[in-house]
Amino acid sequence: MGEQQETLIARLSEWIQESSKIVFFGGAGVSTESGIPDFRSQDGLYHTKYRYPPEMIISHSFFVRNPEEFYRFYKDRMLYPDAEPNDAHKALAAWEAEGRLRSVITQNIDGLHQKAGSRRVLELHGSVLRNYCTRCKKAFPLEYVMQAEGIPCCDACGAIVKPDVVLYEESLDDRILREAVRDISEADMLIVGGTSLVVYPAAGLIDYYRGKRLVLINKDETARDSAADLCIHGKIGEVFRQVREQESRRP
Ligand code: APR
Repeated sequence: MGEQQETLIARLSEWIQESSKIVFFGGAGVSTESGIPDFRSQDGLYHTKYRYPPEMIISHSFFVRNPEEFYRFYKDRMLYPDAEPNDAHKALAAWEAEGRLRSVITQNIDGLHQKAGSRRVLELHGSVLRNYCTRCKKAFPLEYVMQAEGIPCCDACGAIVKPDVVLYEESLDDRILREAVRDISEADMLIVGGTSLVVYPAAGLIDYYRGKRLVLINKDETARDSAADLCIHGKIGEVFRQVREQESRRP
């Protein structure tokens, strides 16, 4: 690790030690070290060749018009039931357990933060673990969707089952948005990681942070790098592992 990177990690570690209301805001880059591709990196989902552009497939109108094709893509490219939390998820859960971190706000739908032990997780874009009948609203687990041949249908009323995932053209949950705004506006430190910050309203939430410890940890540059008080380009799982190692060496 370069000298400069070492200094950045040391500063990050210090700030975390001094904070007690940290909020983490993350995206798909938090889960790539768990084997789940992100969307906009070179090897991301939106660069894969598919019959239709992926961003078109995971939209509300496409789901309504072509549920068969939607579920082919969704099951093929968006479900990773065997994925395990990585060092990034684990560090965040540990900082919450230690009373430093208040909440994780995520754009991810993979449930890995909860699997790592995080308790307060605001899922802005929903979760593949929750599915419901579009007519009678009966709830179904992920397994039900995965085992269904083709389109999963409700075993009570026969209507199509939909993942509790915010598709393009759909709005985010008001209550979750309000809680995310409140947590960020009260945070003493905001760590933003593994997100390209190009999808709104999620990306706009970080503007509610009013402190002086805005940290950005991302493999690639983002449009908000210059607004960060601390900006680290690297793999977030590795960065957090190094921070945890520094903490373990502290007296
Ligand atoms: N560590 C740090 N950063 C990483 C890592 C990693 N291990 N892996 C990837 N990244 C970075 C990439 O450089 C990229 O900038 O994470 C970012 C992921 O950006 P996107 O692929 O755009 O994912 P995200 O920001 O979560 O997308 C937001 O777009 O399509 C919608 O609903 C979808 O929630 C998603 C939203």
